[in-house]
Amino acid sequence: MHLTDPIIREGPQLSVHYVALDSFGVKSMCVRVETPDITITIDPGAAVEAGSFPFPIEKRHALLTEYHEAVRASCAKSQAIVISHYHLDHLQLSRESDMYGGKALFARDPAIMSAKQTDTATRLFKMIDGLPTETVWADGRKYKFKKTVVEFSPAVWHGARDAEPGTVIMTTVSHGKEKALITSDVGGPLEVATTDLICSAKARTVVLDGYPTYHLGQFATDYDLVRSIVNLCRILAAPGLKTLVVDHHICRDYRYPAFFKLAYEKAKQLKKQFGTAAEVLGRTSAVLEGYQNYGPTRWQKWAPLELAEARAVLERAVTEGKLDKDWPAAFDRWVV
Ligand SMILES: [Fe+2]
Ligand SMILES: [Fe+2]
Repeated sequence: MHLTDPIIREGPQLSVHYVALDSFGVKSMCVRVETPDITITIDPGAAVEAGSFPFPIEKRHALLTEYHEAVRASCAKSQAIVISHYHLDHLQLSRESDMYGGKALFARDPAIMSAKQTDTATRLFKMIDGLPTETVWADGRKYKFKKTVVEFSPAVWHGARDAEPGTVIMTTVSHGKEKALITSDVGGPLEVATTDLICSAKARTVVLDGYPTYHLGQFATDYDLVRSIVNLCRILAAPGLKTLVVDHHICRDYRYPAFFKLAYEKAKQLKKQFGTAAEVLGRTSAVLEGYQNYGPTRWQKWAPLELAEARAVLERAVTEGKLDKDWPAAFDRWVV
C-alpha cells in the first residue's frame, strides 16, 4: 500500500491532505491543510505501531520510515506548523531544518501541560531554537492570513477528563464557507464540552481521534466506548458537516468496524461521509489489511456492538454511579 499525500477537497479553495495516519499503518495524525493563502502542517510526527498491530515488525518500521519522509515533505511545503501537544507521535524531536526552519510555529502552551509533556516541550524548543521565524502559544487564539482564518481551541481533554495525558488544542482552518477541523488526541471524543466545540464549529470536514479500544480491559471501558459513539453520532448530525474522518487511536485495533457499527449505520442514515482516512479515500485501513494477511494478534473473538447491548452498557454504568444519568437519554436522541 502506498499512499502519497491523498487529498480530500473541501471546495475549490481549501484542501485537506492526509499525510500520515494510523489507518495507513503508522502512529500519527499528521494532516496538511492548504488554502490559497497558507499551507499548514498539523502535528508533524510519527511513531512505530505496537506489537498488537497485525504487521510484522519489519513492515511496521518500513512504514515509519516511509511516513517520516512524508511528514518531512509536508512540512517543507508549509509556511506554518502546528503542535497540538507534546506526545512523540505528534512532533519530531530533532533539529530538522526542513520541518521547522523558516516556519511560523503554533504550539500548545507548554507551561500548562503535564510534567512529562512539559519536559518533552523543553527539549524540543531547545533543539529547534532559532529555526522557526516565530513561535506562539496558540491555545484559544485566532489568526487571519488574507481570507484564511486559523483558529485554535482552548485546551480540551486528551481522552478522559483529569487523566494523565492532560489536554490538547484543536485546529480549525476556514476559507469562506469551507472549513476543516482537526481535533488531535481527543480520544473519542469522550467529553461533552469537546463535542460541543466540534459541533458548534460547523466545519464541513472534521478529522477526529477515535476511542482507544485496544486499551479495553485496561485503561478503557465499555461505557466510555459507548459515550464516544454517542458523541460521534452527535457530530455526524452537526449542521454543515459533510465528512467525518475518525482515525488515530481507533485504527490500532482490527475490531473497530464491529465496535463502531452503530456510528457507521448512523452516518449511512444521515448520508454523511464517515470512516478512517484510508476508508474515506477508498482504501482498506492498514490494521484490517494486516489482520486479513497476517491473522489476529491480541484479540481472537469479538462481536459487533449492537443497539440494545450498547444502551444496556450505559444503563449499567449509570446504576453503578460511573456515569451521569443523562447518558441513556443522549443515546436515544443521537444514536437510535
Ligand atoms: Fe497524545
Ligand atoms: Fe497521538
